[in-house]
Amino acid sequence: MHVVTLDDPSDTAEWRAKARTLLLADVDPADVEWRTGASGGLFGEDAPLPPPVRETTPAVPRAFLGLADTVLAHRDPRRHATLYRMLWRMTHGEKALLRIATDDDVAWAHTCIKQVNRDMHKMKAFVRFREVPLGDATIYVAWFEPEHDIVARVAPFFVRRFTGMRWSLLTPSRSAHWDGETLSIGPGASRADAPSDDALEDLWRTYYASIFNPARLKVDAMRREMPVKYWKNLPEARLIPELVRDALPRMQAMVKNQPTVPRKKITPLQKAAVDAPEGSIAALRRQARDCRACDLWKPATQTVFGEGPVHARIVVIGEQPGDQEDLAGKPFVGPAGKLFDRALGEAGVERDALYVTNAVKHFKFEPRGKVRLHKRANAEEQAACRPWLAAELDRIQPEAIVCLGAMAAQAVFGASFRLMQQRGEWLDLPDGRRAMATVHPSYLLRLPDHEAREAGYADFVRDLSLMHDVLG
Ligand code: URA
Repeated sequence: MHVVTLDDPSDTAEWRAKARTLLLADVDPADVEWRTGASGGLFGEDAPLPPPVRETTPAVPRAFLGLADTVLAHRDPRRHATLYRMLWRMTHGEKALLRIATDDDVAWAHTCIKQVNRDMHKMKAFVRFREVPLGDATIYVAWFEPEHDIVARVAPFFVRRFTGMRWSLLTPSRSAHWDGETLSIGPGASRADAPSDDALEDLWRTYYASIFNPARLKVDAMRREMPVKYWKNLPEARLIPELVRDALPRMQAMVKNQPTVPRKKITPLQKAAVDAPEGSIAALRRQARDCRACDLWKPATQTVFGEGPVHARIVVIGEQPGDQEDLAGKPFVGPAGKLFDRALGEAGVERDALYVTNAVKHFKFEPRGKVRLHKRANAEEQAACRPWLAAELDRIQPEAIVCLGAMAAQAVFGASFRLMQQRGEWLDLPDGRRAMATVHPSYLLRLPDHEAREAGYADFVRDLSLMHDVLG
């Protein structure tokens, strides 16, 4: 039995280096005992591993590296051994292992990913920074108790959101610090290190009370989204009983008052979220089959709903299904889909890691003899379909969105978005996510000459490669 001790049980680079050494030495997973800093070390240094029997490790799907990075943040002590077994199996004849959703190891990994992503989502939503004067400066400190070791993975989100502030994010196992320029990860802290009360709390409470809409009050959903265990760190949670009690009178008062036009600019998707249907992705898919929000359903064969992992880190949004998608009931399976797949392959991104959907879910066409000629959905049809897209994004909670073509980009960024000027870069959305737009593959297929097509395709692949900023 070979004992391998990890100093940092969640560090992907350390696990990868050790797993690589084991693989090069052809060490069977059954012969490895993984220990971590706390459990290892009792018996001194690990015995040296056998020497390598090969020079390089066989190629591993890129998706596995992303998967391993997320799974390593999980606190399940079996993670190092299970990931090494998966790596071993993929390099010993089971290359397509990740596609077998029913495999025990793969299913376990997906459960871990789901739990880690959910924990990250909660941290992004419920961390509250408190103001602490420090000499002439002000720093902001937050305390949070995540279930998994996610601080280093969530910290870049807070860097993007609070770039101009100096802050520290404290948790029992690690802390993250941003000084306006550099992000550093340090040891854990205790709750006492974080200030407990200050002026910001009142601000939060006022803000929360003002966004609280009694007409949409659903206590169960609130509990689910904001589990009671997080309430102790949330100043606004103190308001909840009061807000719930006052909900009916406030709703009656709202009905009496004249509606006011919101002054703040919101994106089309935020607007559509108000009417978004409820339920899981599978439930949404079922409901969307009977959508009658516009007339596109009449001549179409079926609704083409999004497809992909329900906790995908990236959602890709196309424009509307074409002829083949309408027949197959799946997005991006026709010529544009084939080009998209090829470009993804060249960018080294697994389509299986993405949730792929469209801004409009029905094929719009004009019959010409035996052919159905593609027609662009008009503004009303696009708007009618938007609540579905808003609901998909709400359920999946991706870290990032990639828009293919102007229709998708304008649904996400608003009508003033200019695709050719703003393509190929991550932009921050009001909800803290990032999104990027690139051209639609059908645009490339329509380019008249070979040279323009080649250049356009190379740019498209370059844009898609930016997904590695998210997927790792
Ligand atoms: N074009 C799109 O925008 N979506 C599809 O699903 C197919 C072609």
